[in-house]
This record gives sequence, structure tokens and C-alpha cells, in this order.
Amino acid sequence: MDGKMMTEERNQEELRQEEFLKKAAEAVEKISESHGHKKMKSCVVTFGCQMNARDSEKLRGILLAAGFEDTEEEEEADFIIYNTCTVRENADQHVYGRLGRLTGLKKKNPELIVGLCGCMMQEPEIVKKIRRSYPVVDLIFGTHNLFTFPELLSRILTEKKRVIELWEGTDEIIENLPIKRKYAFKSGVNIMFGCNNFCSYCIVPYVRGRERSRRPEDILDEIRRLAEDGVKEIMLLGQNVNSYGKNLETPMSFASLLKQVADIEGIERIRFMTSHPKDLSDELIEAFNYSDKICRHLHLPVQSGSTEILQKMNRHYTREDYLTLVKKIRAAVPDISLTTDLIVGFPGETEEDAQATVSLVREVGYDSAFTFIYSKRTGTPAAKMENQIPEDVVHARFDRLLSAVKETGEKASSRFTGRTMDVLVEEKNKMDGYVTGRTSHNLTVHLPGCENDIGKLVPVRLTDCRGFYYFGERV
Ligand code: SAH
Ligand code: SF4
Ligand code: F3S
Repeated sequence: MDGKMMTEERNQEELRQEEFLKKAAEAVEKISESHGHKKMKSCVVTFGCQMNARDSEKLRGILLAAGFEDTEEEEEADFIIYNTCTVRENADQHVYGRLGRLTGLKKKNPELIVGLCGCMMQEPEIVKKIRRSYPVVDLIFGTHNLFTFPELLSRILTEKKRVIELWEGTDEIIENLPIKRKYAFKSGVNIMFGCNNFCSYCIVPYVRGRERSRRPEDILDEIRRLAEDGVKEIMLLGQNVNSYGKNLETPMSFASLLKQVADIEGIERIRFMTSHPKDLSDELIEAFNYSDKICRHLHLPVQSGSTEILQKMNRHYTREDYLTLVKKIRAAVPDISLTTDLIVGFPGETEEDAQATVSLVREVGYDSAFTFIYSKRTGTPAAKMENQIPEDVVHARFDRLLSAVKETGEKASSRFTGRTMDVLVEEKNKMDGYVTGRTSHNLTVHLPGCENDIGKLVPVRLTDCRGFYYFGERV
């Protein structure tokens, strides 16, 4: 199929969904009328990662375009949609717990519509359970058909019966649906969808499908529009941004996309997530020095400090490879902040393996790290591995790792004391007269300020280090 045909087909689907959006809007209008012109309210709840959050912004955009008013209070909503995550078992449990509470809400308000979407819905066993045991749920769809939300919304508003629509996969990328950003001044931007890496513990490739890159012109157009709309910081999103563009009709590297993004006027900061160490190129390392807009922070998930475990995880690098990469990055960008993800208790992890992760944390001296307890995901290769680690052993290892992370994080953060850095103010602080923002290094800073500062870049002297964050003075 040539590029032009693809574009025309895409546009057809976009037009089709626009028509459904109009139908949904008519239905919303009608229902509001029957309730004495009271506006219908919708509540979108995000359970997962940045990509999940970006999807929620799409849902919210569509709901607003259909005439709903956005609310964060489930109690006052006429339509509640949970955008689920299934990366670890506790993410699933969280959703079941909240569904129990919604059953109570629906008793009070029988007209309440409850929807579920996101990664958890791509697991047939889970959907079976919800169909059977959670009659409170009216609408279910998955990650692959999120762009048909206008269609599904119009159906659930008019048909008044359960709507369940799930796709096993898709190679389509639909552009130009409405989006309602959570923040005025910053935004995530999808550059690719899916994942081809099949790390042996991870369910994401099964629920998000194969890797697809968006066309660079679509990405750059979106960012230009965001810049015109006042956005200063963008986060380029993908499960493995370092393999961006490999399967495009005209292949393109992530580094070259990054540089083109940096050339867009109005965008002041660029972040990206996530980088897989096995695909991190020299070209990307050099790109940090192409523009100051590229934030001095790299999230580089290592998962384990033991080569043996890394092999079993199917990560395609050794401990030494990773440490060499860190050296190379630090040589090119000396001041960079490094953060990571760590998994404790992977099947077969020995005491030595666990120690190796702690020693790697100390050796790298991360600015911060997310530590996770291994969670068995049905259908992944690791779920079938022998030697699943008993809970008490895992907890002891987890605590040890956490204190190593805390120690190195505090030490790394303290290196900024006394320096003046630009802080992008994000929100009002709970403390009166203070606001909170982040530096290019992704360090949280509290400073004196007011609501008017939100979305502004303010130079701040970092005076008082409190572990992982600072109090600063405006200069
Ligand atoms: N694509 C990204 C991460 C996606 S999931 C990457 O490869 O880095 C975010 C993090 O969740 C992973 O980095 C991993 O540390 C953690 N994770 C994924 N599956 C997990 C599991 N089954 N148990 C515990 N942690 C897991
Ligand atoms: Fe999961 Fe690995 Fe893909 Fe990340 S790269 S989403 S950890 S399979
Ligand atoms: Fe969760 Fe799906 Fe993200 S499983 S971590 S919401 S890609």
C-alpha cells in the first residue's frame, strides 16, 4: 500500500468518527434537555503510564466535544470511564476495588454510565470476568480501538445496552481526534505505539501490540500546533523511543526527530520516555549537545544489575554494557541526571543477583529510581519460569534496594546546591505563597510564587536541598 492511499484511508476513518461525534453530541443534548438542561458531566480516571495519561486526554477531548463537562468527582458524574493499566497485578486489583465502589454509586444514580478501556481490557480473561461479575460496567473497549470512542460513545448514549468492542490488534494510526490537555503549558506527544521487545516479565507487547511509528510530519505538525497554543514543554512518548522510525516508509532515527523538534520555535523543553539501553545510539547522545532545549535528564531503565537476570529478562545487554553506556553518556553530557526502573524478585534471582542490583545503583549514582516488586503476568515467559521468589525474601531485598536508591538519590540531588537554574512552574504548592516546578534535570523545586507563575520559566537559586527536592529563591 503506498503512502497516499494510507493517508486517504485514514482520513476516511477520521471523517467517520467525526460523524459519530456529532451523533454523540446530539444524544448528550437530548439527555441534558430531559434533565432540565443540566449539563452532563464526565469523569476520566487514569491508572497507568504517560501513554495511558495521553490516551485519557484524547478521551477527555472527545467527551468535551460531545458536550460533556469535565469533572474529577466521580460522585457528580453521569459518565465515568476508567483508563486501566495492567503492567503489575496491583494495577488490576486497584481497578476491581474501584469498580466495587461504582456499584454503590450506580444504585444511587441508575442512569450513570460506566466505561472501561486501556491495557487491562486487552486481556480476554479479564474481560470475561468483568462481563460476568461486574454488571455495573456498560462500555468496554481496548487500546487498539480507542480512536473509535466517538462511535462507541454515541452507541452507549443511544442504544442503552452494554457495548463491548475489542480488537486484537491494529496497524492503523488515526490522527486529528480532539484532545483536552491536562496542563496548558506542557504536553505528551506520542511518537510511536506498541512494543516489539518482549522483555520476559512484561505484558505491554501483548496489550499494546506491535511497534508502529507515527510519521515525522504528523508529529512535527502536532508539536507546532502545541507551541502555537502556548505549550513550552513536550514529552515524546513511546515504549522504546530509541527504535523510533525504523519501520517507517522512509526510515528515520529518533535522534534526527529530536533535533527537528528542537528547531520548533516556542518549544523550550523537550523530554522523552522511555529509552531502552540496547538501542541507545551515539547519535542520540550527541543530540543532547545539539540544543539546550533537550532536557538534561535521561530515564534509562536497567531493571537488574545482574547479567544473568538481564539475560533471563531478555533485555539484550549485560551489566558491563550498561555501565559502559552510562560512562559514554556522562562523558558527553557531564551534568546529566540519570534515573531508572528496577525490578526486585524476578524468578531465579539469587542473593548475589539482588546484591548486584544494589551495587549497580551505587556505581551509577542515580538521581532517582522507580523500584518495583516483580509481578507475575499471565502469558509472559517469566510467569512460567521456575524459582518464583517467596514474598518475604523479595520484601527484604526491596527494602535494601530502596535505601540504596534513597542514599544515592539524595547525594546526587545535593550536587545542585547553590546553583541557579530555570524552573518551569507547574502548580501551586499546598503551602500558601509557594509554587512547585521542575528543572531541566527533572528536579522538583518549591519556590515563593503565585498562580500567575504557572507555566512560566523562572530562574531560581537552589538553596535548601531536602533529599530528592529543593526549596529555592527567585533571582
Ligand atoms: N517500555 C519501558 C517501560 C514500560 S513499563 C521500558 O522498557 O523501560 C515500566 C516499568 O514497569 C518497567 O521498566 C519495569 O521496571 C516495570 N515492569 C514491567 N513489567 C513488570 C512486572 N511484570 N513486574 C514488575 N515490574 C514490571
Ligand atoms: Fe515492556 Fe520491555 Fe517493551 Fe518496556 S521494552 S514495554 S519493559 S517489553
Ligand atoms: Fe500500564 Fe499499559 Fe502503560 S499496561 S504501564 S498503561 S502501556
